[in-house]
Amino acid sequence: MIVIRSAARMAAVARRLEREGKRIGFVPTMGALHEGHCSLIRAAAARHDMVIVSVFVNPLQFGPREDFARYPRPFGRDRRLARAAGADLLFAPPARELYPPGFQTAVEVGPLARRWEGSARPGHFRGVATVVAVLFELTRPTTVYVGQKDYQQALIVGQLIRDLRLPIRLRVQPTVREPGGLAMSSRNAYLSAAERRQALALFHALRAARARIRAGERRPGRIAALMRGLIRAKAGVRLEYAAAVDARTLEPPRRLRGRVALLGAVRVGRTRLIDNLLVGVP
Ligand code: PAJ
Repeated sequence: MIVIRSAARMAAVARRLEREGKRIGFVPTMGALHEGHCSLIRAAAARHDMVIVSVFVNPLQFGPREDFARYPRPFGRDRRLARAAGADLLFAPPARELYPPGFQTAVEVGPLARRWEGSARPGHFRGVATVVAVLFELTRPTTVYVGQKDYQQALIVGQLIRDLRLPIRLRVQPTVREPGGLAMSSRNAYLSAAERRQALALFHALRAARARIRAGERRPGRIAALMRGLIRAKAGVRLEYAAAVDARTLEPPRRLRGRVALLGAVRVGRTRLIDNLLVGVP
């Protein structure tokens, strides 16, 4: 596996691969790799000649009071895990390589980016869309692999690809969970053992909501109330939002039908966690 730090070198290598007719699978990450990331890398390795993984803690997608400075950066470990999962090339640029002095363009996504994570974290998706657009141009992927764990982000990346007519296919891979059900996240490293147990309240609420829908409930307000009640009942967990929405638009429907996304965000101590489940409503 080769490691590239320079944007110019990354672009040159990707263009050479493109000329050689290689199919490139791309997995963008912020590092602190875990089994969720590795499942994306393995999925890409199974289908592509060349797998590029990027590790870049993107300053543009963090708010001023968020965890950019303390976000974990275990580079040696990331490198080992990426290679073991099947990455051929690790692109790990310093910030000035992606955003050289004078950089001033942003990619703004519309209504899909407004609710949920978008309203809880102003500017977040603009930062995500901007870095993803730059990374796509540098790595020239055939297919990009993202996780359902960040469901709203996955929809936004798909929208960006459609709107900018990028010749890239999007694959959304299932959420990888800890044995107890907690969705894997680089931010789980912030949690104490007690907080890990508390954090499970979110997944348990999503699961209870899914069961209630399967049992016939079609009123989104009732499902949201169920999730909120379960989360609020758990000591040490603060609810940010919980909702049952249309899985394509992320808008709350009048009645649940088709594909429904159950979305939730909580805070446990200083740590912010998100999770979701998709449910097909017959
Ligand atoms: P990061 O949080 O590092 O996640 C990188 C990719 O791994 C995303 O597509 C995310 O959805 C996926 N992922 C994270 N946890 C997962 C899990 N438990 N199961 C399956 N997939 C999981 O998301 C970002 O970085 C950034 O916003 C990025 C897209 C790289 C832009 O900076």
